[in-house]
Amino acid sequence: MLDRIERYLQSWKIPSSSAPFLLPGGEQVKAGFSHVERLIDFFDRERLCRQSLIVALGGGAVLDVAGFAAALVHRGVRLLRLPTTSVAQGDSGIGVKNGINFAEEKNFLGVFAPPHGVLCDLTFLQTLDGGLLADGLAEAIKVAMIKNGSFFHEIEQQALEIEERNWPVIESIIRQSGEIHYRHIATSGDPFERGSARPLDFGHWAGHRLEKMSGYSIRHGEGVALGIALDTVYAQIQGMLAEQERDRVLSLFEKLHLPVYHPLMEKEDDSGVLEVLGGLNDFREHLGGELSIPLPLRIGEAVEFHEMSADDVKAAISFLKAFSRHS
Ligand SMILES: NC(=O)c1ccc[n+]([C@@H]2O[C@H](COP(=O)([O-])OP(=O)(O)OC[C@H]3O[C@@H](n4cnc5c(N)ncnc54)[C@H](O)[C@@H]3O)[C@@H](O)[C@H]2O)c1
Ligand SMILES: [Zn+2]
Repeated sequence: MLDRIERYLQSWKIPSSSAPFLLPGGEQVKAGFSHVERLIDFFDRERLCRQSLIVALGGGAVLDVAGFAAALVHRGVRLLRLPTTSVAQGDSGIGVKNGINFAEEKNFLGVFAPPHGVLCDLTFLQTLDGGLLADGLAEAIKVAMIKNGSFFHEIEQQALEIEERNWPVIESIIRQSGEIHYRHIATSGDPFERGSARPLDFGHWAGHRLEKMSGYSIRHGEGVALGIALDTVYAQIQGMLAEQERDRVLSLFEKLHLPVYHPLMEKEDDSGVLEVLGGLNDFREHLGGELSIPLPLRIGEAVEFHEMSADDVKAAISFLKAFSRHS
């Protein structure tokens, strides 16, 4: 494995002065400080300085941890990211956020630190299983729904090709998703999220909460899919989004095998309140200030809302449960 990684980096002419350091993949690597400490210890043994370049290769979780550790050593050593999953190539790997989960909170500790460079080798997508590949499609649909209706239309038109694993089509979708994420971060005027509006977090208030409630057996991309489905149906119930647009979204999810319902969405606490609603508080705390939730006005355009009706969230979950039974 280590040999293969070294040969791979050499094939891109990426200089390497030390043997690769292995981290476990998946959300477990973000649990607390332990892997950050292991990495920092490794950087210390390798005598890294501020002129060094750290090369991180992996999925979103590994990149989040590597970016966090790289930002701490000598107040920040340059980082080259090589994202290997659909989520990391189409979203997280090209962004500016790095971090870990702490005190049972997702991404509670972290830093904004733009990478020195990002190299997306789309051939990595070919070893992802169906679920991991679909995760990145959820993030692509997310940006399409809030920013670009014609990109949504393109994904809709190509659902069959995606299903049949037509790689040029899949690569084009993940590439466009990455480009839209990148453009937003670079040009929206708030790359480090000082304000409370966070359009790229559409569907994430519920998604992050469900990930956490499941002990992270629900992956990030699955949580995002569930959160988008919930906010889409909620927006229709609130009279913002047309029924026909809601149905387009749900039918695309069905074609791409993205989840729209999970029993944890219905879990209630001792006082009969849906536990998923705690995601709104998590979100408010994380952002500070006023709660701001992006909701779709139509496919391609979102508006920020500052409160959500618990009854309508419940109605949206019941709708999705019925939909998932019949689909
Ligand atoms: N920093 C950000 O802006 C940002 C944005 C979105 C998501 N995230 C974070 O990213 C994480 C999710 O990342 P993810 O969806 O990439 O999953 P992941 O990093 O959790 O990886 C999932 C699994 O895929 C495996 N894997 C990685 N590359 C593979 C490949 N090419 N072929 C086969 N298996 C491969 C990993 O070993 C792991 O088992 C979450 O922690 C989420 O919070 C961060
Ligand atoms: Zn996300």
